[in-house]
Amino acid sequence: MERKEFLKQTGLILGSLPTLGSASLTAASKSEISTTYDPMSWSEIRDQFELRRSHIHMSTFLLSSHPKPVAEAIERHRNALDEDPAHYWEEHFMTAEPQQQAAAGEYLNANPDHIALTDSTTMGLGLVYGMLKLRPGQEIVTTTHGHFSTDLSLKHRAERTKAKIRKISLYDNPAEASVDEIVSRAKSAITEQTRVIAVTWVHSSTGVKLPIKEIAQVLQEMNRSREMADRILLCVDGVHGFGIENMRVDDLECDFFIAGTHKWLFGPRGTGIIWGRDEAWEALDPIIPNFGPSAGVWIGALPVDTPLITPGNFFTPGGFHSFEHRWALAEAFRFHLDIGKERVQERIHTLNTMTKEALAGMPHVQLHTPMSTELSSGLVCFDVDGYSPEQVVEEFHRHKITASTTPYRDSHARLAPSLINNEEEVERTVEVIAKM
Ligand SMILES: Cc1ncc(COP(=O)(O)O)c(C=O)c1O
Repeated sequence: MERKEFLKQTGLILGSLPTLGSASLTAASKSEISTTYDPMSWSEIRDQFELRRSHIHMSTFLLSSHPKPVAEAIERHRNALDEDPAHYWEEHFMTAEPQQQAAAGEYLNANPDHIALTDSTTMGLGLVYGMLKLRPGQEIVTTTHGHFSTDLSLKHRAERTKAKIRKISLYDNPAEASVDEIVSRAKSAITEQTRVIAVTWVHSSTGVKLPIKEIAQVLQEMNRSREMADRILLCVDGVHGFGIENMRVDDLECDFFIAGTHKWLFGPRGTGIIWGRDEAWEALDPIIPNFGPSAGVWIGALPVDTPLITPGNFFTPGGFHSFEHRWALAEAFRFHLDIGKERVQERIHTLNTMTKEALAGMPHVQLHTPMSTELSSGLVCFDVDGYSPEQVVEEFHRHKITASTTPYRDSHARLAPSLINNEEEVERTVEVIAKM
């Protein structure tokens, strides 16, 4: 449907003011971005961030600093919204989200129609685990390794609907975890009642990266004998791994992939996505209304049988958002694509391997994250003899290194070398631990 037609039919048209062509949103598209830095140069990439130079930042994965192209897009939208929010919104609301979905689709090698926009990983998890249709007796299997965003989404779901949640552990010792062990534990946890398996791609507790594809293939085998409504759905909190691993979402072979885009991907703070396999969306019942055709039907301007656009749009929570952030998301995908997904993965793995090899050689350090890049990504979790994780982080802070502890009951110190770091920073960081 054309934008004007939609506006007319839904009675949203605001008046006859001239349109705000000068503050065009299409500045987010590839052709109009001025690449004023060399995406092949790691130091020029670092220059795109306002991150203070006095510190080594090893915690970017918590919340992104906006690189220049993202910051500038936010600024453009903010200025235009401040000048005339109603008309800027009216001018762009039909086209802006599809542009972000298209950029996400290009990055994921996925159909943009299957990508919903959210505000965070947590919002995506809460929505998916809240919206899943479950028949009485069906259960959700989850793991002991997930973040509280997964755990509490499932707990709320269980308390609200009496859905049964069962927790399994996929490994005992993270440093020694293996693909075989993880896959066989996942397989043996499945029962006739299992409808969903809820996992986290890269564990922020240990740094372990799960072999999602291998788990998915075991489930596919089991699904062969199941009816569509009983198929086991594999839902993944993919936030750590997304913006690191050179992935096509289809290659993971999961059903839902949920991630915030404001961590490794350097997207605007308060943005995220849900990707769902085509038929998987049918397993959801909507909770938050979208402002698309269903709103038009509700108003009475569109016929009741109006198609629901796409699953990605239908399941994107409607309402007015911080549009200056949401509409600048495409720039973050572009930033990563300009650098190159393969180079991003190689760089982050190289810096992480360097960190882990140094720590593994220190007798007073227990490294919890596997050495192999098959089972790890951008997080390094460890303990230092005689120090609590908080004391390790304090020691880093004394040396102007920003690190973190893992937010779990069994907590560890954690580093996350990323695109904004370099070899020299890794050396200075591990030197602090060596001297402890
Ligand atoms: C594994 C995992 N999932 C979810 C979250 C929450 O992410 P968001 O801030 O995008 O909601 C975190 C937090 O860092 C996390 O480590």
